[in-house]
Amino acid sequence: MEIIIQPDAAEASRVAARIVARLVGDKPHAVLGFATGNTPLQLYRELVRLRREEELDFSGVTTFNLDEYVGIAPAHPSSFHSYMWAHLFSHINVPKQRIHIPDGLTADIPATCRHYEQAIRSAGGIDIQILGIGTNGHIGFNEPTSSLSSRTRIKTLTEESRKHTAAGFGGTGGVPTHVITMGLGTIIDSRMCLLLAFGKKKARAVARAIEGPVTAMVPGSVLQMHPRTVAVLDREAASELEMADYYTWVYDHKPDWQRY
Ligand code: PGA
Repeated sequence: MEIIIQPDAAEASRVAARIVARLVGDKPHAVLGFATGNTPLQLYRELVRLRREEELDFSGVTTFNLDEYVGIAPAHPSSFHSYMWAHLFSHINVPKQRIHIPDGLTADIPATCRHYEQAIRSAGGIDIQILGIGTNGHIGFNEPTSSLSSRTRIKTLTEESRKHTAAGFGGTGGVPTHVITMGLGTIIDSRMCLLLAFGKKKARAVARAIEGPVTAMVPGSVLQMHPRTVAVLDREAASELEMADYYTWVYDHKPDWQRY
């Protein structure tokens, strides 16, 4: 795994944006996997800026989001549909018909999950999957004890995850109990995983996922099995990494052509 430690979330998000922009520039029909939550907001702002100021072209891109709440309409203000349109899709030129987010209102969840997997395969697989990490180590909404080879399916949220998004639903009691999420097997089929984590409260999950044992108790640790994961962290999120000095040295000594 490549670990890039930056002074703050803004710098780290610019590194992540350069990685995405380079792919989109080199491969106009790239397939991008997006995440929601607080973590990728600055990355999305930077992509919007690159669209506005440097005409980064998303017209050939296909997108897949990691997850959506079950029972929540796309128009609900706290749906992941709403989040993606508010923060990214309304501001870049990605064609609507190539945007994929799981349908939280589907009457047939298993069929929807199968079709989602099929759609990812038909698009040629995901080139870069953007990921945040929960304080409990989840990626997507693959909560602890998720199978390391799981595919897109329904999951039950932990209390910790429901508390994290309580504000958008008028309190923890209003947060949906279930989600549809890409599985860990789906995520690591992506050609590249781009993990972002910022702030002290993520330090323990980051250390467990990157340097701890591979275990379903820390779903993000499955990324250790992935041939091309880049973790872009701020200093606080990296603060519990034993090998932090080594990762910094490695990044500082990369040849120019390998830098982001
Ligand atoms: P956050 O969530 O980006 O809002 O911290 C990350 C996650 O729970 O996956």
